Amino acid sequence: MIIVLFGPPGAGKGTQSNRLSGQLKVPAFSTGDMFRAAIAAGSALGQKVKAVIDAGDLVTDDLVNELVFAKLDEPECAKGVILDGFPRTVDQAKALDAWLANHHLKLDDVIELMVNEEALIARRAGRLYAPISKRIYHETFNPPQVPGKCDETGEDLIHRDDDNPEIVRHRLEVYHAQTAPVLAYYEEQGRLERVDGMAEIDAVYRQLLTIVAQAPKAG
Ligand code: AP5
Repeated sequence: MIIVLFGPPGAGKGTQSNRLSGQLKVPAFSTGDMFRAAIAAGSALGQKVKAVIDAGDLVTDDLVNELVFAKLDEPECAKGVILDGFPRTVDQAKALDAWLANHHLKLDDVIELMVNEEALIARRAGRLYAPISKRIYHETFNPPQVPGKCDETGEDLIHRDDDNPEIVRHRLEVYHAQTAPVLAYYEEQGRLERVDGMAEIDAVYRQLLTIVAQAPKAG
């Protein structure tokens, strides 16, 4: 089972892919989380991508593709994966199709979370992130049980560096210019499904479960 969750920054991809992962028993793989972990660890990869991510730009296709396909080849992804934040350019989508064809696999679902810009801003302004558990909270819409602490690990919750208003504006521009065309790519192939991402977290999740429970799609 290979699912792509698609949507602009702050749409709820990470929130929903974590929940789906538990239900479907396949890992959720967030390229953003992978880069943030590399930056926090000070690894060579982290040093390479830090300036790009801090500026709200996209990491190069070659680098992202190499990392994602190495991950997909790992045994933990043998039963499937939920992709959060990949593909993010048409070239990445084409590279994913080529990888899938080589492995005699296909995408089960490409699902867009539709959220308006006002809600995206409110969601990112109040987002809280647990760097170790990768759990995602919101000060108002999804608060932790103890303010400022992760429910799972008790670690301190932080605001992401790229959630500052100026970078958020730029990330949205990058989304419209480079990532939104991926929607047209999948739509032309009849592979795109949409859910109302404006609904509450539980209601969005129910819509996603309905889609993934349907019979495999063509293509
Ligand atoms: P990444 O981490 O993927 O960021 P993003 O796509 O911009 O998405 P976000 O993580 O900001 O939001 P989300 O949709 O996951 O929403 P969330 O669930 O957190 O990427 C970061 C950077 O890495 C990129 O800018 C780029 O530089 C680089 N990168 C990553 N992948 C790349 C690629 N493939 N190619 C090139 N570069 C790449 O929810 C947001 C908030 O809203 C939370 O507080 C949550 O609690 C709340 N919330 C969620 N759902 C709801 C709801 N239904 N109602 C109310 N609140 C909600």
